[in-house]
Amino acid sequence: MIELRTALTIAGSDSGGGAGIEADLKTFSAFGVHGLVAITSVTAQNTMGVSAIHDIPPEVVREQIEAVACDIGVDAAKTGMLSNSGIIRAVSKAVKKHGFPLVVDPVMIAKSGAQLLREEAVDALIKHIIPLAKLVTPNRYEAEKLSGIGIESLEDARRAARLIAEELGAEAAIVKGGHMGLSEAVDVLYHDGRFREYRAPFVEGCTHGTGCSFSAAITANLAKGYSLEEAVGIAKEFITTGIKYGARIGRGHCPVNQNAWIEIPAERWRVLSELRNVVAGLDGVRPGVFLYALPALYARSRDDVAVLTGRGTVEFGAPESAAALLEVMKTYPELRSAAELEYSEELIERARNMGFTVLEHDLREEKTPDLICGKSSLLILGRDPAEVLEKVRRLEPESSQE
Ligand SMILES: Nc1ncnc2c1ncn2[C@@H]1O[C@H](COP(=O)(O)OP(=O)(O)OP(=O)(O)O)[C@@H](O)[C@H]1O
Ligand SMILES: [Mg+2]
Repeated sequence: MIELRTALTIAGSDSGGGAGIEADLKTFSAFGVHGLVAITSVTAQNTMGVSAIHDIPPEVVREQIEAVACDIGVDAAKTGMLSNSGIIRAVSKAVKKHGFPLVVDPVMIAKSGAQLLREEAVDALIKHIIPLAKLVTPNRYEAEKLSGIGIESLEDARRAARLIAEELGAEAAIVKGGHMGLSEAVDVLYHDGRFREYRAPFVEGCTHGTGCSFSAAITANLAKGYSLEEAVGIAKEFITTGIKYGARIGRGHCPVNQNAWIEIPAERWRVLSELRNVVAGLDGVRPGVFLYALPALYARSRDDVAVLTGRGTVEFGAPESAAALLEVMKTYPELRSAAELEYSEELIERARNMGFTVLEHDLREEKTPDLICGKSSLLILGRDPAEVLEKVRRLEPESSQE
């Protein structure tokens, strides 16, 4: 039997699916880890804010941990929203009993401003949960609250991380840099008497659920057997990708895209293999360039468009004409593939007569275009290479003369 690693999240539910246990489970899945849950609180929430909070009785929280730990087993766990001191004490007891590695995300206030840990519970968190942690992952404000140090600089973040580990009794602490106002997102880890920094460019993107997804990614990778430093490094890459490729849903803070981590490599592979499949069908037809882009959410530049070259090889990093395809995709995201042909009035005429929709300049046609005219070339458009190939074949002079 192949053993599947398991990770447990002890956290609140976010009905908007952006943070909390929903974010944690998606993150666990992205790393191929089986996710387990102990829900501490049910929140009514969306990208704009939290409108209701209903705490689960501490006994039921404890029982959820007990149920999964005594049967399935927990390779690593994390805590998120713990809400009140009753839940904190129940979680502390259960963690002590089972002794699994614990990442503590000391969630206090949601991105929207809602209080997720009652004021009375901060001391309980420090007393009962932090000392059990393998790692504590506060953001700037949580680190200030836990350490009593005002954090304005990376030096302050270092002092706070060290204090949380050495004086509050956690094995390690990482002070996250999402709210430091720097051009880079710098996270400062203190572990085993040493500091380590994790840096990434600060990206404009979707940040609802960053903290939850980051700590869940660390937990998943600890469950898989990576060292703490390795797990944090992987989580950092994961969260940067998730923020960059978040989808703009809702009217407030849009959620991190945990799927990007597995979907981008999977789609890159799929794009290349579908493009390779058309080679066989070309059979003499030689469009100048044959293109296939990643799904619109992931197609940002020419590097995200694959090309079938004249030599019959396929690769990412498409030529100039890919810019036109990316432009088309802004209006018609489903049109991800195109073949470039030499500009020809005759061909345009033939396409019109065959009932194809031809776009000359204005992209805001009602009907989805089949062909778009540039200055010196034409792009035959379709949802995938097979559809484009079929259109190209229909437009061949021989077939139209039949
Ligand atoms: N805009 C951004 N660009 C790149 N990285 C970011 C950005 N915002 C946050 N991060 C990174 O995301 C991770 C989570 O940090 P953050 O400080 O946002 O946590 P948080 O405040 O607890 O989040 P949440 O509000 O979801 O609880 C860290 O690695 C941080 O550096
Ligand atoms: Mg947070």
